[in-house]
Amino acid sequence: MKNEPNLINNPIGFFDSGVGGLSVLKEAVKLLPNENFIYFGDSKNAPYGTKTVDEVKKLTFNAVDFLLSKEVKAIVIACNTATSAAIEDLRTTYKNIPIIGIEPALKPAVELKKNGKIIIMATPMTLSEAKFNNLMNSYKNEADIEPLPCAGLVELIENGLIEGAEVNSYLKNKLKPYLKSSISSIVLGCTHYPFIKKELSKILDKNTEIIDGSLGTAKQLKRQLSNMNLLNNQATLGKIEIINSLNYKHIIDLSFKLLNS
Ligand code: DGL
Repeated sequence: MKNEPNLINNPIGFFDSGVGGLSVLKEAVKLLPNENFIYFGDSKNAPYGTKTVDEVKKLTFNAVDFLLSKEVKAIVIACNTATSAAIEDLRTTYKNIPIIGIEPALKPAVELKKNGKIIIMATPMTLSEAKFNNLMNSYKNEADIEPLPCAGLVELIENGLIEGAEVNSYLKNKLKPYLKSSISSIVLGCTHYPFIKKELSKILDKNTEIIDGSLGTAKQLKRQLSNMNLLNNQATLGKIEIINSLNYKHIIDLSFKLLNS
């Protein structure tokens, strides 16, 4: 009871292995402009997607503990990899705070009911974990789904490479086996990937949809805050704080550049 009157002004904590979760924060800020946000990116330990599940779980718990020390009122795990490795354990451990995760947005891709393959680009860990495989199995009779692990792509984006020759040739190489057949949509199952969307669209047919889960996750955050009467109703714009485990100016500058892109 004691904290309740002030809790609505507390920040919402965001977490990702690096700068990727800013694609989700961007949508959340648009939807909830009056909220205060703290974003923690663990670029020092990125990429997560090629680590073991136990390593990612440990890093995710450390990050959540850090955000809790900042008195956040809700937490968004804005990383598909960390969500698949740790969301259940996090919710069991921290029962009193809403924890929102993200998973590849397969449902909207299937609902398009277009002909051709649905390609899911994500990290090797996301695609090998049970969470994704259960999701994929639930749609396997309705659509032709092709998981495409993209090791190495997060590193390019962490280095600020979101367009140009290197990103283009990475994507062309990855998608080469599919470009001659029909692709109905590409699901970006890693929160870093929306930042390379422009380069991706250059090599795809105009009719191929590119889908990501950032808006859906931001809406889910709003719903949960509203259900718990935790929405901030201040009239002024909220504050956005970005913290990164690398603690270099260039990574904070890159973060704001991506957030405002
Ligand atoms: N943004 C993370 C995700 O959504 C990237 C994971 C990584 O660091 O490999 O999966």
